[in-house]
Amino acid sequence: MISNKPMDIPCSLQERKILEKIALAAKDLRLPAYLIGGFVRDKILGRRTKDMDIVCVGDGIALAHKVAESLGDKVPVSFFKTYGTAQVKWNELEIEFVGARKESYRQESRNPEVTEGTLQDDQNRRDFTINAMAISLREEDYGSLLDPFNGMEDLEAKIIRTPLEPSQTFSDDPLRMMRAIRFASQLQFTIVPEAFAAIQENAERIRIISQERITDEFNKIMLSPKPSVGLDLLYKSGLMKIILPQMVDLVGVEMQEGKGHKDNFYHTLQVVDNIAQNTRDLWLRWAALLHDIAKPATKKFEPGHGWTFHGHDALGGKMVTRIFSKFKLPMGDKMRLVKKLVELHLRPISLTKENITDSAIRRLLFDAGDDIDGLMLLCEADITSKNRVKVKRYLENFELVRARMKEVEESDRIRNWQPPVTGEMIMEIFGLSPGRVVGELKTAIREAILDGEIPNTYDAAYAFMLEKAKSFNLTPVK
Ligand code: CTP
Repeated sequence: MISNKPMDIPCSLQERKILEKIALAAKDLRLPAYLIGGFVRDKILGRRTKDMDIVCVGDGIALAHKVAESLGDKVPVSFFKTYGTAQVKWNELEIEFVGARKESYRQESRNPEVTEGTLQDDQNRRDFTINAMAISLREEDYGSLLDPFNGMEDLEAKIIRTPLEPSQTFSDDPLRMMRAIRFASQLQFTIVPEAFAAIQENAERIRIISQERITDEFNKIMLSPKPSVGLDLLYKSGLMKIILPQMVDLVGVEMQEGKGHKDNFYHTLQVVDNIAQNTRDLWLRWAALLHDIAKPATKKFEPGHGWTFHGHDALGGKMVTRIFSKFKLPMGDKMRLVKKLVELHLRPISLTKENITDSAIRRLLFDAGDDIDGLMLLCEADITSKNRVKVKRYLENFELVRARMKEVEESDRIRNWQPPVTGEMIMEIFGLSPGRVVGELKTAIREAILDGEIPNTYDAAYAFMLEKAKSFNLTPVK
């Protein structure tokens, strides 16, 4: 039994079982096989992972078929002959098989010339030392770690380093520049200076990578524990300027008449980190990233007064649509949520500054609807003042707004407001066909409820409607 041999990485019983099957299949086919890449890295780090990459010296597709056969006849193999890769799904594990490769890239193309290689060749062509570690599945040294670039040491030192000359690694596959920054943010590792310099040098080459792959890495940065780490590295590397230049426009402080405004780039990064402490929701994090995106475009200096950014909320909403489209992010509900939060992000904070009327609270509940909790998280995250007293006061005021919202919602049920008297009812009562008058009556009822003129009930709305209809010379038909 191979599986009784100790392994250099901690694996569950189920993982050991599948690795043993792979080892036996490889032995049958006389193919040296290895577990390699992210799975090895994540196991050493104690992170959860479900993707296994198996590399063998020879035909990876044949090995996948042999493994699937040994797992029972219901296990399907999906394979791509052109790439020589195959995938087997078993329970929740996704296992990729590939023959060891040697790659050489040409400057003008993103597609490398691939030839068969040894394990060492395959390890050489990988992105980072921490991703190039392999576990042998051969009988003679089953379970032992094969780590030619001291990936283990780099994992311990929390360092991201390329196996070969960094400029070569990044120029070969420019997505790796995003990956380096993503790992730095996700794992809270440091990119070694020579690798970071190579990213700065090669940043322009990111243009040959598809938007989908860039977005995928960007979202992983957004989902990391402290996204500002990755976002700042994107800026400093020159990649942000290429992939999301509107963010770079936020950088810097301008002075006039001795008055400066805050650096909106670093403010934004702080807001993203703040919201990340309270939610793992990618879209709320995107809303934090884009909440001030229109500040540069709306910035004005008013002599004697200072800097203003009037309308940055509304224009910001428009920019969300453009940025989502460019990033090929979902254009449906997710985009609408981010747009809405950007448009409304000043509303709760303005409520803390004035005497709060029930009507203002009702209007906010009405406009935000079910997204009110997300909006409140964004607004709280937006408080980045260094003045502790101010922060404390704002947060306390926020609690007041929350409490008032709760009261108003309990009595008026505005959050998921449905008109107590509908357009269809109005048409039926007055014998009208669809048109302007129906719309005006509906709006008048809604405004009366939001202003607190009448309660949010059918009877009150019905009586109000009858009264209002008189000004249109309307009488009920029955
Ligand atoms: N790899 C690479 N260059 C890339 C992508 C991947 O060298 N541009 C190699 C790395 O060795 C990596 C392995 O292929 O570990 C598997 O890649 P992938 O599954 O995309 O990433 P993981 O490293 O497993 O990490 P994650 O699952 O977090 O994306």
